[in-house]
Amino acid sequence: MSAHESSGEPAAPLPPRVEAGHLSLDRASLVAWGEAFGRAARAPLVVTLTGELGAGKTTLAQAICRGYGVRDEVTSPTYSIVQEYESDRTPVYHLDLYRLRGPEELANIGWDDVIVADALVLIEWPERAGAYLPPHVPIRLAHDPAHADHRLLLAG
Ligand SMILES: Nc1ncnc2c1ncn2[C@@H]1O[C@H](COP(=O)(O)OP(=O)(O)O)[C@@H](O)[C@H]1O
Ligand SMILES: [Mg+2]
Repeated sequence: MSAHESSGEPAAPLPPRVEAGHLSLDRASLVAWGEAFGRAARAPLVVTLTGELGAGKTTLAQAICRGYGVRDEVTSPTYSIVQEYESDRTPVYHLDLYRLRGPEELANIGWDDVIVADALVLIEWPERAGAYLPPHVPIRLAHDPAHADHRLLLAG
């Protein structure tokens, strides 16, 4: 144990309302944010996209893919669960685990290879993977109660 850990002090003092920090973005701003994120992303990188149906997970994934350099149209992988795209850089995997009945089904979709690939990996409904999720950048999206056409975004 390091001297710091044994001091009894919190590892990183955070402002008390840090959990409430978020962006409120209209669709164009959310897409612009995603494209900028995609341009800045460097593989290997796993990004999780959490939020209820219609929160904008697929919209954001499409924007991240475009910024990363995917030229093909990115569709929702709800039925296929995994879609692989080529890009100007590494491959991109876009997963939607909504229809996964449990983590034991991960083997059927090539999970072990996807999460160690030199790739950008975007995962909708990451909760379904349970303890099998690798280290990742978490992004949460939610409807904005104050604006029907805005979404709240919380990253990290
Ligand atoms: N600010 C916004 N950001 C993202 N999507 C928005 C926004 N406002 C409205 N929408 C709409 O909400 C829907 C989000 O759908 P989608 O991205 O498929 O969500 P999810 O994958 O989370 O179910 C789309 O029809 C999109 O046009
Ligand atoms: Mg979706």
